[in-house]
Amino acid sequence: MANNLLAGKKGIIFGALNEDSIAWKIAEKAYEQGAKFVLTNAPVAMRMGAINNLAEKTESIVVPADATNMDDLNQLFEKAEEHLGGKLDFVLHSIGMSVNVRKGKHYTELNYDWLEKGWDVSAVSFHRVMQVAWKREAMNDWGSILALTYIAAQRTFPDYNDMADNKAYLESIARSFGYHWGVRNKVRVNTISQSPTPTTAGSGVKGFGGFINYAEKMSPLGNATADDCADYAITLFSDLSRKVTMQNLFHDGGFSNTGVSNEIIERFEDE
Ligand SMILES: NC(=O)c1ccc[n+]([C@@H]2O[C@H](COP(=O)([O-])OP(=O)(O)OC[C@H]3O[C@@H](n4cnc5c(N)ncnc54)[C@H](O)[C@@H]3O)[C@@H](O)[C@H]2O)c1
Repeated sequence: MANNLLAGKKGIIFGALNEDSIAWKIAEKAYEQGAKFVLTNAPVAMRMGAINNLAEKTESIVVPADATNMDDLNQLFEKAEEHLGGKLDFVLHSIGMSVNVRKGKHYTELNYDWLEKGWDVSAVSFHRVMQVAWKREAMNDWGSILALTYIAAQRTFPDYNDMADNKAYLESIARSFGYHWGVRNKVRVNTISQSPTPTTAGSGVKGFGGFINYAEKMSPLGNATADDCADYAITLFSDLSRKVTMQNLFHDGGFSNTGVSNEIIERFEDE
């Protein structure tokens, strides 16, 4: 289904860790649609090596960068512009990590050092990436910057823990920085609020199995997969969505607007 929607477009894709990663699927589809890009991930994530296979497959290069480190980010943008031969048309931020979630710390007992680390990685890094791009004037007019988020930013999902707060912050950054990008460069900034998806980050959330099955039954169209998400991301990088900005876009098979589904009700009828 390649229509060359991204022909001639250049970008940076953060967050492809393995084949399950949402960023991995987006990279594959962006390549199919004619985009050229640089792949990046935290230096520790490079050890797994899988990203090199993706680079080969998509004729891209890999530049390691910790998204919380401004020097790394500056070098990344410099190398990307050099390699791609000019400014960028799209940036994907597909990064998330909570130390409290990883270590099973309950929300009522958060460790604040861990909270700060997770907040920096998951939310502030989006500002960092945009600030670097902004100062370098790295984006072409009508470019598109995108991050991934989850509905726990609006509604409580107890085991999502401090990631809920990180996502609320991330979405706010998209609006706040999106204003400035729009005015100066006609660049759009959005977040996709994606269904629960079986990836390394997703599966790390306590009770993920129940969580994803419940969402499936609550969504008239069923959960959106990582592949579905990649299709949606392509439209947001393409010229077909040029006036969509500062939005949190639910991509969840209808979950966010469903009060209850018949399938869920049926399970409680005999109680
Ligand atoms: N999986 C889900 O259920 C789900 C649902 C909604 C939103 N999301 C969001 O989608 C995005 C991608 O996650 P995923 O589900 O594909 O999982 P994933 O584990 O494949 O991707 C997370 C990525 O973040 C990277 N990362 C962590 N720390 C970093 C740092 N300091 N610098 C640079 N990169 C760093 C990891 O290396 C990894 O590639 C995240 O923002 C996540 O919160 C996921």
